[in-house]
Amino acid sequence: MFRSGPGVGYPVDLAPEPADIPRRPSFLREFLANPIATAAIAPSSPHLAAAMLRGVDIASLRTIVEFGPGTGIFTRAVLQALRAAGNTGATVIALELNQRMAAALAADLEAGANNADDPAPRVEILNANALDIDRILAERGLPHADFILSGLGWPSIPAKVRDAILEKTAAALPQGRQFRTFGYHIGLTLPGAWGFRRTVRRLFSRVEISPVVWRNIPPAFVYTCTT
Ligand SMILES: C[S@@+](CC[C@H](N)C(=O)[O-])C[C@H]1O[C@@H](n2cnc3c(N)ncnc32)[C@H](O)[C@@H]1O
Repeated sequence: MFRSGPGVGYPVDLAPEPADIPRRPSFLREFLANPIATAAIAPSSPHLAAAMLRGVDIASLRTIVEFGPGTGIFTRAVLQALRAAGNTGATVIALELNQRMAAALAADLEAGANNADDPAPRVEILNANALDIDRILAERGLPHADFILSGLGWPSIPAKVRDAILEKTAAALPQGRQFRTFGYHIGLTLPGAWGFRRTVRRLFSRVEISPVVWRNIPPAFVYTCTT
């Protein structure tokens, strides 16, 4: 169920929107309105979505949390992988700070996925901040997540907020579970990208970096961080 949450002031409050969603948000328009939070002018490519899930033991997952789904390229890939693996017992909880994007994605995905007559993985799109992952899991009686993936633009997030999100991410995963996220090659020119690397190396027992996914604008790579 789509639920609208507080704008939480990160890093700038997003403009309030009427409850009914008048038009589908475009990535570019959201970037122009909020370049720091949106952090990209276009959604990730299906090639990057595939790299985000490559080698993940999809059948073993029950609770999957996604940060910053945007228009849902990774969310759809996760749901498709779960269905392909016959994993109808899993739930995907996606936390999107932008209310317009969260509402549009909920309208697209929730009705189809949460039909009681059709066994399929469940999906919950929340207008919420990744910083609240601990509260959101606790409210659902979930002791942990089995897999966390993120579309957040780490270099543009203030270091304190970034580290708080990453600390809660590591704490939400039992030992041996994965957190995956991506970076842009071009982003390595930004100090925040190196701050992100330092923090994940401190919090996770293993951090691996994939080969470059060239078929993405801009070219990207995936971090696999294992607790
Ligand atoms: C770079 S876009 C990625 C969107 C999508 N995952 C993709 O790869 O195309 C980052 C998304 O994260 C959202 N976002 C930024 N900060 C967030 C936060 N603290 N919690 C949840 N979502 C956030 C933005 O609104 C935006 O939709």
